Amino acid sequence: MGRYGVEGGHPLQGSVKVSGSKNASLALIAAATMAPGVTVLEGIPAIRDVEVMLAITRALGGEAQWVGAGRLSLRIPTGLNTTVPFAEGRQIRASSLFLGALVAAQGRAEVPLPGGCDLGPRPVDLHLKGLAALGAQVEVEHGLIKARAKSLEGARIYLDFPSVGATENLMMAACQARGQTVIENAAREPEVVDLANFLNAMGAHIRGAGTDVIKIDGPTVWRPATYSVIPDRIEAGTFLIMGAVCGGPLRVVNVISTHLQPVIAKLREAGATVEEGEGLLEVYREGPLAPVHVKTMPYPGFPTDLQSPMLVLLSQARGTSIVVETVFDNRFQVVQELQRMGANIRVEGSAAVVVGSTPLCGAEVQIPDLRAGAALTIAALLARGETILDRTGCLERGYENWWDKLTRLGARLRPLPE
Ligand code: EPZ
Repeated sequence: MGRYGVEGGHPLQGSVKVSGSKNASLALIAAATMAPGVTVLEGIPAIRDVEVMLAITRALGGEAQWVGAGRLSLRIPTGLNTTVPFAEGRQIRASSLFLGALVAAQGRAEVPLPGGCDLGPRPVDLHLKGLAALGAQVEVEHGLIKARAKSLEGARIYLDFPSVGATENLMMAACQARGQTVIENAAREPEVVDLANFLNAMGAHIRGAGTDVIKIDGPTVWRPATYSVIPDRIEAGTFLIMGAVCGGPLRVVNVISTHLQPVIAKLREAGATVEEGEGLLEVYREGPLAPVHVKTMPYPGFPTDLQSPMLVLLSQARGTSIVVETVFDNRFQVVQELQRMGANIRVEGSAAVVVGSTPLCGAEVQIPDLRAGAALTIAALLARGETILDRTGCLERGYENWWDKLTRLGARLRPLPE
């Protein structure tokens, strides 16, 4: 699972190029299985979660190969297997996205109940309710989701929560439904928009992605496409927070700054300077950090995936900050590890109270999940002495070339024997 030693206290400066969006890439790979022929995806990050989705694509009967840096060639036959293998499927939550794609294109699907980061219960009830509304027979037994549909009919679907995955799954399934489907209270994340744009490039008729009402007219006559994924706004935000904490100046290249407005606003409120350029952002800080209150919300609110890194920044602010997590039930697992490094944070229900500014000191810590891993790395870069990061595999699954990028910025780190 990987171990790294990070020596804290060194300045982090320079420029870092953000990779393609992990979460958009995972959805595009699932969607590509709906169009027989050869689809080319560009800007895809070479990370483990992508490799898991490619392994599933191959298990279904597709051919998936890298044909250059970030460039994926997916050759999809007309008929596909419809069972996502358990070994891969249970590893990442995004495997559930094959549900909508397979039911749409093959009329049936069997997908393991998803795994992934342990962020509390992560039901798929909204996915299943929506598929049933479109006319699929859905059941869950023995840890497997089984769905089948002779035909799909357009429907009006209201999501109790603007779930990203449910919106993506239902958008894909609705492409094959006869007539119009309307998804209300849809997720508005940029990754949902990217998927809709890709589906339209393959012949779908989707309007309204990015708003809370998405309309899909089906059925679709599919054609394979070539498509470039959007940059990863969460990776970009992670580096912006890192630059604001460590002082910078740190230039983050390959960004769509509109995707980062909630993060930019919060960093400015906390006392950092963020300058916007063409496809890039530059962050630096001269004075002390000020405490701010953060509440994670579905897009365009402050992203839950940057909540853990924000805790580290706020541990260095002079005063008390409150961070409220409204998207996931259990996303403060990083706190106990940060406490081992000296952070003064206590969790009260869905809120974390952060008292700063507290000097951090190196310790041996265990990474509980992907974004916690990014937070603990930022803490280690700040801390006095060396920090041992254990279970760094959780990190490498979602941040392409993480250690190289940090080394180029001046970080002093070394891989350790497990
Ligand atoms: C996506 O997860 C992302 N993952 C997550 O990123 C991200 O944190 C999340 O969206 C929110 O932005 C991928 O895109 C692969 P949700 P997803 O469905 O789709 C509840 C990362 O670190 N819910 O919007 O699983 C659910 O329990 C990962 O890159 C239901 O109740 O998120 C959660 O509390 C972590 N029923 C909330 O909605 C459902 O049927 C948000 O879930 C579905 C979801």
